[in-house]
Amino acid sequence: MPKTIFATGINGLVGSHFQNRYNSSYTIVSLDVADPRNPVDITQPEQVLNALSSAKGEYVLHLAAFTNVTEAWKQNGDTHGIAYKVNVEGTKNIIAACQQLGLHLIHVSTAYVFDGENEDLYTEENSVHPIEWYGQTKAEAEALVMASTIDWTVLRIDQPFRSDFFPRLDIAHRILDGLKNNTLYQQFDNHFFGPTYIDDFSKVVDWVLRTGTTGLFNASSGEKWSDFEFATAIANTHSITTEIQKGDLNEYLKTLDRPYQRNTAMDTTKLQNALDFELTPISKAIAEIS
Ligand SMILES: NC(=O)c1ccc[n+]([C@@H]2O[C@H](COP(=O)([O-])OP(=O)(O)OC[C@H]3O[C@@H](n4cnc5c(N)ncnc54)[C@H](OP(=O)(O)O)[C@@H]3O)[C@@H](O)[C@H]2O)c1
Repeated sequence: MPKTIFATGINGLVGSHFQNRYNSSYTIVSLDVADPRNPVDITQPEQVLNALSSAKGEYVLHLAAFTNVTEAWKQNGDTHGIAYKVNVEGTKNIIAACQQLGLHLIHVSTAYVFDGENEDLYTEENSVHPIEWYGQTKAEAEALVMASTIDWTVLRIDQPFRSDFFPRLDIAHRILDGLKNNTLYQQFDNHFFGPTYIDDFSKVVDWVLRTGTTGLFNASSGEKWSDFEFATAIANTHSITTEIQKGDLNEYLKTLDRPYQRNTAMDTTKLQNALDFELTPISKAIAEIS
């Protein structure tokens, strides 16, 4: 009998890859707010509890979130706003249901819990210090998970991209598209991130489900790339000769009305020491994008 996994946000950019890849290994029960027959809004505690009691499962994979950082900033400080409700109240409801039903929660978080001022990679030992509202709500959510007495695994990711096409373009497909159509905007050489290869991340989730591993893990690639380096690598790997314009983050920040993290790359040594497979180097992952 395949394990039953309850999943929120499974139709999004990250979750739909896991669903496509592992739907024959697990019975995946979706808690989907847009389901016309059985909508489950995670901000409604009774809907969450009803949905999670409906089948015998062991795990909740919690991906649902308000993920639009710019829109979240417009709600800065508003604990009645939708970003706070989904990210914090929604997670609180999931935790309460897991507590009641004895479920292990796999909670997906973000490198935006950090302020981005580190030169080096962020480790699990670094304190969180969010600088904008999306990061603040996600930091509160992961703190609630980690303070709970349920079995939990928190997986932090950054700038995820997948090998296959998804209608909401990820960072790699946006760059590829811009290069092909000669519409690529300037790429900063002084902004850094830690790309997450979603194909690997799905395997990380499967590893948690197979092993029952608990704890906090940075689950990106463990690499640090500037925007310019990343775009150049994509162009070179896909034999595209379009010239890439270098941009300066400091100039961009003068035009931006919200805080922006300069470096969100994370160290993944803890994860890599625990995994029973190797993460794909980003240079190789880029070659797998179609
Ligand atoms: N994408 C990134 O750049 C990024 C980076 C770091 C971390 N993350 C984290 O990774 C996770 C997945 O991100 P993603 O990019 O795959 O997200 P996404 O594509 O924006 O999908 C979000 C999902 O959440 C669901 N959702 C929103 N409000 C809900 C509610 N009230 N009740 C139930 N479901 C609700 C959405 O359902 P509908 O589609 O039906 O509205 C959607 O399926 C999130 O926790 C996010 O914080 C993402």
